[in-house]
Amino acid sequence: MCGIVGVIEKENATEKVLQGLEKLQYRGYDSAGICFKSEEKLNVIKSLGTIDFLREKVPKNKSNVAIGHTRWATHGKVCETNAHPILSENKNWAVVHNGIIENYKYICDDLQEKGVHFSTQTDTETISALLGQNNFLNPIKNIAFLMQQIKGSYAFCAVKNDDKQQIFAAKNKSPLYVFCSPYISMLASDPICFPKGEYFKMEDGEICKLQIGKVEFFDCKCQQIKKQPNLEQQFDAAEDIGQFDHYMLKEIYQTSPALRRLAINFLNLDLSALKKLSFDKVKLVGCGSAYHSCMIGCEYFKKVLKVDSEALQASEFRYGSTLLTKKTLCIFVSQSGETADTIAAAEFASKKTKNIVVLTNVLHSTLAKLGKIILPISAGVEMAVASTKAYSCQVAALYLLVMTLKSEKMFYKAVSDVFLLSKKLDKFYINMAEFAQEISFAQSVFFIGKGLDYVTAMEGALKLKEISYINCNAYPAGELKHGILTLIEKDVPLIVVATQPKIYEKTMNSALEAKSRGAKLFLISASPPKAFELEDFEMCLSLPKCPPLLRPILAILPLQKLSYLVSIQRGNNPDMPRNLAKSVTVE
Ligand code: G6P
Repeated sequence: MCGIVGVIEKENATEKVLQGLEKLQYRGYDSAGICFKSEEKLNVIKSLGTIDFLREKVPKNKSNVAIGHTRWATHGKVCETNAHPILSENKNWAVVHNGIIENYKYICDDLQEKGVHFSTQTDTETISALLGQNNFLNPIKNIAFLMQQIKGSYAFCAVKNDDKQQIFAAKNKSPLYVFCSPYISMLASDPICFPKGEYFKMEDGEICKLQIGKVEFFDCKCQQIKKQPNLEQQFDAAEDIGQFDHYMLKEIYQTSPALRRLAINFLNLDLSALKKLSFDKVKLVGCGSAYHSCMIGCEYFKKVLKVDSEALQASEFRYGSTLLTKKTLCIFVSQSGETADTIAAAEFASKKTKNIVVLTNVLHSTLAKLGKIILPISAGVEMAVASTKAYSCQVAALYLLVMTLKSEKMFYKAVSDVFLLSKKLDKFYINMAEFAQEISFAQSVFFIGKGLDYVTAMEGALKLKEISYINCNAYPAGELKHGILTLIEKDVPLIVVATQPKIYEKTMNSALEAKSRGAKLFLISASPPKAFELEDFEMCLSLPKCPPLLRPILAILPLQKLSYLVSIQRGNNPDMPRNLAKSVTVE
């Protein structure tokens, strides 16, 4: 979703902003813009499409102060006018914003009655308009007053058309980070934009005044707050694409080292608080791929601990009739830790139970702060919109979590299982090119499975639809005859995930029913194909041996690669699928 960068630098702030925006591209965006200060004037340049188009328009002249933005449209269509930065009518302020101003209509109506003219369809313009209207001499007072007027989620940066080299910022719910050094000072939605070193995380309700070599924080009453930079840019070169054509492919290959890192991190964690938890049922909550990992985790709780458990989509959790008591254990799973629905669900759950566990890749994220216990998924930075290594690490982390609750002996066995699995992945080379060729120009693709395999089918279908734009649907194998068979036509691809020997035959029966109606079958199973399978299936893939509960991690790998190849064959950019964002920071 939207990304923000602000830079004050002695050399060339505009170039540093453009570089920062390039690093935020992974979040997903449809337009971009920059505002740089020159001779007390605010110069705004915007462009549709990628940062390259914006870069072409930005003059080479140097400026010491600049703010920039990648926009993922929520309010107002995708067009240059609606792209940020947005100027106040009197051109005194320029603003970039991430989030949603919920009462924007009310503010707009009110200001329009007072004669203010709005030139965009965005909620963001209420921020620049109010800043332009609030006439306090002290900009901090101006921003504090603005924060009393707006409701919703926001992180914004603002610059004023004066001769001062400073940027102002404030936040509520959406993330914002600050880096300050004698040479360069920066604000960004993700610290990935910062050079190595310590940086600050802004908290809700805080205002920041940033200068070169100096940063000041204020509360909403304009009182100065003392803050120490408490986080450190620990870079693992994930932003470097290396020899790969796309981040997604690189990240699929990083699954194995990430699993090893996860196992080591779990060995070094103090898990005593986790072991002390007392609960009678479990809710696992996430969105997208994280929801699918919750579904697998739910099976682990039921199979290993025999506890009543349920996986829920975060967007449904608050609004459905979810029953929570003090004894409910709620586990929130999120790669980014910034998904608005998952955060809102965790806030909702916190009012009913103290048993909150957060499993995330970003330990300083907004979601992590809501957890009584925070566990890492240790995937490393994930840039591609479609989650791959983070999904597999979430599943493995849930396995380790459940085994920790089972017994010490099972915990150590689980750590060794994850290590062994990562070794298997190193050698699990599968050529999916032919498979991809068969699927690439299909109108729709079906996936079926039962139990854990059904979850793999769902995650496989999500991956393929996200980056190929093919209509993909996953069903429990047994449901085919309850309506879905009507959609099966000649040559429609049906991917069958059947990795559990006990229910293998049942899944096969459903697959063959579809074949008799014309479907082309593709199989992912746990053992080498039998003779009849070779006859019935266009292609059969068998997985290496591993503990049955970890099989979903092996089974998803060919489906991730398949999605990647199909995306390329269809001429898409797998790293940045249309209309999707990596970090969904608005509801
Ligand atoms: C977006 C991403 C998905 C991700 C989901 C949840 O939809 O495109 O890849 O699974 O958000 O994100 P989270 O950061 O909470 O895991």
